[in-house]
Amino acid sequence: MTDKTFTLTNDQTGEKWTLPVFEGTQGPSTIDIRSLYADTGFFTLDPSFTSTASCKSRITYIDGDEGILQHRGYDIKDLAENTSYLEVCHALLYGDLPNTAEKAEFENNITYHTMVHEQLHYFYRGFRRDAHPMAIMCGVVGALSSFYHDSLDIWDPEQREISAHRLIAKMPTLAAMTLKYSLGQPFVYPNNELSYSANFLNMCFSVPAEKYHVSPTLERAMDKILILHADHEQNASTSTVRIAGSSQANPFACIASGIASLWGPAHGGANQAVLEMLRQIGHKDNIPEFLERAKDKNDPFRLMGFGHRVYKNYDPRATVLKSSCDAVLDELGVDDPLLDLARELERIALEDPYFAERKLFPNVDFYSGIILKAMGFPEEMFTVLFAVSRTVGWISQWKEMIEEPSHRIGRPRQLYTGATERKVRPLDQRDPSRQEAAE
Ligand code: CMC
Repeated sequence: MTDKTFTLTNDQTGEKWTLPVFEGTQGPSTIDIRSLYADTGFFTLDPSFTSTASCKSRITYIDGDEGILQHRGYDIKDLAENTSYLEVCHALLYGDLPNTAEKAEFENNITYHTMVHEQLHYFYRGFRRDAHPMAIMCGVVGALSSFYHDSLDIWDPEQREISAHRLIAKMPTLAAMTLKYSLGQPFVYPNNELSYSANFLNMCFSVPAEKYHVSPTLERAMDKILILHADHEQNASTSTVRIAGSSQANPFACIASGIASLWGPAHGGANQAVLEMLRQIGHKDNIPEFLERAKDKNDPFRLMGFGHRVYKNYDPRATVLKSSCDAVLDELGVDDPLLDLARELERIALEDPYFAERKLFPNVDFYSGIILKAMGFPEEMFTVLFAVSRTVGWISQWKEMIEEPSHRIGRPRQLYTGATERKVRPLDQRDPSRQEAAE
């Protein structure tokens, strides 16, 4: 409960209403407007949720002005440097980093579920070889609900946990199968002797005919990329998962909805779009022309990998990735001209008053594509990797919501601006202009 209140005055009538104010452990105070409509007859309008907290959560904290991102209180840089992805998964799912015994148990639980039902292979064959991997992922992850009937009861904590483990364990397998299918290569089964990230790289890049050695630098880089994308509080895809889950849909279906939402270029699809943009710019000399286009409101061109709804400072994930980029490119001996172009674009954009005034800084997607490309992933797979990593965030947020006793179905209201009541007219009189004139 709270002692603080916020008083609202109707300027027309002078009526006043007092609303409770909640304080989080960090971040802005929040006015509780749940009873507003019942008390006042007014809705609030906030279509893209710029001022609306859609839930209470204990998982992830972002301070966009300071460029801070914490999971369960741990700073993202600290996590990226000192933990593994599965340790971060444990923290997101259970509230804390694991100790030695918990870590071993959790890793065992996840590796136990890495294989997918053999029948799922047939789903892949139904897709065109050139299908976008995210289209395949929307389908096959949704299809998991038809294979694991024993973990669909969302009211049973044990089943919720098994579903969470299955999703975290199977996403790399499904993602790697998507890549293999597009290449026309045989699927590679998981190898539970490898770490989560090494196993994923192995399933993506090994072929039965040859030995494949997972480079420790790439394994670590993969792990870092997964850590950096693991959760990001109530972003578009997470909110999609929560809304889908609020109707009591099963967790596999909810995660499939999150994948669909992540696909868009304004969200997870941006990492693919960054490379497309860099290639479109082509040369340092063309940067000014493209910056002018990005500033022109009549031109749909935007600087991909720049800007963020919440960060009005450097995206802390981009800082970590930028430094990883050099290590990976060095290890691989890759001298990618796109990286030089990206650095130059960043430098010039940050000096430009348009970007400075709007606090548009590089986000996580600005550098992730360059690393993933150097690691050998086709560009269409970039957003799939984001989905692999974000699955733990989605499922942790879903679990938190289901375990919140007061949760109800998410059901926004609207400000209706359409036609008022009118009569159905015979077919030959339905020209809208005539109909309007007649009314
Ligand atoms: N290039 C040019 N102008 C921009 C950009 C950009 N990338 N981003 C924002 N702006 C401008 C925008 O036109 C607006 O200008 P004005 O105030 O003059 O109208 C102002 O900055 C504020 O932008 P907004 O559209 O109100 O911001 P938003 O919070 O609705 O959008 C965003 C956030 C991430 C969708 C947007 O910045 C964008 O489209 N960025 C490029 C796509 C991208 O990199 N997405 C990845 C986000 S990070 C990973 C993830 O979370 O998925």
